[in-house]
Amino acid sequence: MRTLRAGIAVVACAIVALAGVATSAGTQAIPPGKAARVEKAKYGVTKDGTAIDVYTLTNTGGVVANVITFGALLTELRVPDRAGVMADVVLGFNSIDGYEGAHPYFGATIGRVANRIAKGKFRLGGQEYTLATNNGPNHLHGGNKGFDKRVWKAQVVPAADGVAVKFTYVSGDSEEGYPGAMTVSVTYTLTNRNELRFDYTATSTKATPINLTNHSYFNLAGEGAGDILGHELTIMADRFTPVDDTLIPTGDISSVRGTVMDFTRPIPIGARIAQVPGPAPGGYDHNYVLTHGGGVLAMSAIVREPTSGRVMEVLTTEPGVQLYTGNFLDGTITGKAGVLYKKNFGFCLETQHFPDSINHPAFPPAILEPGRTFKSTTVYRFSSK
Ligand code: BGC
Repeated sequence: MRTLRAGIAVVACAIVALAGVATSAGTQAIPPGKAARVEKAKYGVTKDGTAIDVYTLTNTGGVVANVITFGALLTELRVPDRAGVMADVVLGFNSIDGYEGAHPYFGATIGRVANRIAKGKFRLGGQEYTLATNNGPNHLHGGNKGFDKRVWKAQVVPAADGVAVKFTYVSGDSEEGYPGAMTVSVTYTLTNRNELRFDYTATSTKATPINLTNHSYFNLAGEGAGDILGHELTIMADRFTPVDDTLIPTGDISSVRGTVMDFTRPIPIGARIAQVPGPAPGGYDHNYVLTHGGGVLAMSAIVREPTSGRVMEVLTTEPGVQLYTGNFLDGTITGKAGVLYKKNFGFCLETQHFPDSINHPAFPPAILEPGRTFKSTTVYRFSSK
């Protein structure tokens, strides 16, 4: 521990020299070959007076990830394009006020149950539970005050090839209506291979539904650089879960072949987006059934932005991924660079168990039993070509 602390102190000095480069607005080249490091700083104070910290993870290639203790939330991610020019590729805000206010979960850790639970109701252990209906008739992303709006504890932890910070939160019994007290952690690791890795663990005192994800909105051309319709997407899934008008799965599992849902080969996100069936405002907001089936860390999606050449590969142990194309962004939120986020200005690839799994016994089970440890890993790997 002493070695680790000493390391961080050195690290903090090293980053001072770099700070002007790493945190300045816009895009700048950062020279590769510096030591990987973590820096902790004050980020802001919530309305109820809680101090929020930001952890800046920097790898040897100059890739930077900023994560705050509010929502264990990724506020900034700077990765190089094919010329080595860095850009922040995630949507978000410049201060705590934005994240504390109403927003569509930019960068946040989502739980206890990511995605929807139909009518906010489920049965477990012979008991019926009723949760908040915070999305039309349904429950979404953990309820009125999900994990995205909680303050997490943070601890710098060792990482084999990079730097890591572990965020922990204890969710009380009956919090947001869910059974059991849950201790949940997400470790963010930034590797020297330009991977941002999320390792989730959770335990609970009672059987509870669980589904954890990160809700980052990406634009690989840079946050605020316009829409993401030209990004070329591949998803390693030949099936998806069709939904009703309130975005609850019908229970069917359908083939994507020959439909606008098919991303088994690279195709621009916008190529067929206008024909995607579903409620207004239209666009992709669907769970893909990953061919690898979950349980092992496997390649699940690849996105390439042609002008910058930035590539993001998604690997996960989860059985599904939600493709969400920022359909509800409507130009009312101002982002970090001062640009209004309009429809399709970001996309999400939310690795997950299928939506409303708790009410669909045929879907892969998403229940955490007491005495067991839930584990899940997702990696966003960046490169360029
Ligand atoms: C959901 C969308 C929702 C968005 C932001 C996504 O995970 O599938 O329907 O609008 O999150 O809340």
